[in-house]
Amino acid sequence: MRIEKIEDKCNQCLLCVRDCVAGVWRIVDGKSQPVDIESCNRCSHCIAVCPCDAILHDGLKKDQIVRVSRNNLNPEVFRDIIISRRSIRQFKDTPVPRDVLEKILDLARYSPTASNDQNVSYTIITDKKLIEEAAKSIWGLVSRLYDKTKKGIGKIIVNVTGLNNHRYLRVMDYCQKQTVENGRDFILHNAPVLILIHAPRRARFAADNCNIAATTIINYAHALELGTCLTGLMNMSLWCNSSLRRKFGLPQDKKVYASLVMGFPAYRYTNTVSRKKPEVQWL
Ligand SMILES: Cc1cc2nc3c(=O)[nH]c(=O)nc-3n(C[C@H](O)[C@H](O)[C@H](O)COP(=O)(O)O)c2cc1C
Repeated sequence: MRIEKIEDKCNQCLLCVRDCVAGVWRIVDGKSQPVDIESCNRCSHCIAVCPCDAILHDGLKKDQIVRVSRNNLNPEVFRDIIISRRSIRQFKDTPVPRDVLEKILDLARYSPTASNDQNVSYTIITDKKLIEEAAKSIWGLVSRLYDKTKKGIGKIIVNVTGLNNHRYLRVMDYCQKQTVENGRDFILHNAPVLILIHAPRRARFAADNCNIAATTIINYAHALELGTCLTGLMNMSLWCNSSLRRKFGLPQDKKVYASLVMGFPAYRYTNTVSRKKPEVQWL
């Protein structure tokens, strides 16, 4: 890897040194200079912060680095996106165009990753049959487990632990009926797209990286008038169901830390929602 400075262009502002978290850029004889090049984590900050285009870095894709535009930065727009987004569980039977999905993934890579590892990967499933099969297999398991709580030792356990009164169990009879009578899918919500977000199994902060990318995706999708819903049960099922993993062709070394469904919402929300005030400690 080569990192260099074009001395003629440099105005000696030293921002590259102040900003370099990896300690690559340092002051040598009063001037900024790349010293420990192998420590670079390719975060691009030195190029992003340089006001004089004085830095050459052959480990980065230069064509992706353009001038920052602040014209569209609008806090009210951002706030509206966040408060108007809802988890969507009813979708139109319309596919999401491939170029829109690509556009969303393209933005998600600008999400932060620990140590700039950029180790988030995706499996995008648009095959409705495959999505349906996965939902049915998870629902089948949930349903069978529920049936076990209605008799014998299962019933005793949920009664003793008080789980029989858990809202997830109380709603199960209704859900089972809805599934049979109306084909409602309580797992993947009959969605046209399922996105599995994965990272190397033992990577540090892998779950954080995936969930931060998921957050970018759900908010950008909403701005594009698409709906999403995170599907925690899907992640859990993939951790223990190897035939489901095989169905999705998931690489052995990857673990799914976040998943979501996406599609065009069947209807819109007229109002925003109520949320608890967070517990905050001010020091
Ligand atoms: C980690 C996580 C997992 C979730 N898993 C599911 C899920 O399996 N199924 C589902 O319908 N919603 C799931 N949700 C969506 C939440 O139920 C939803 O965010 C919450 O009720 C608030 O509603 P809102 O997203 O419309 O604001 C999940 C959300 C998060 C953050």
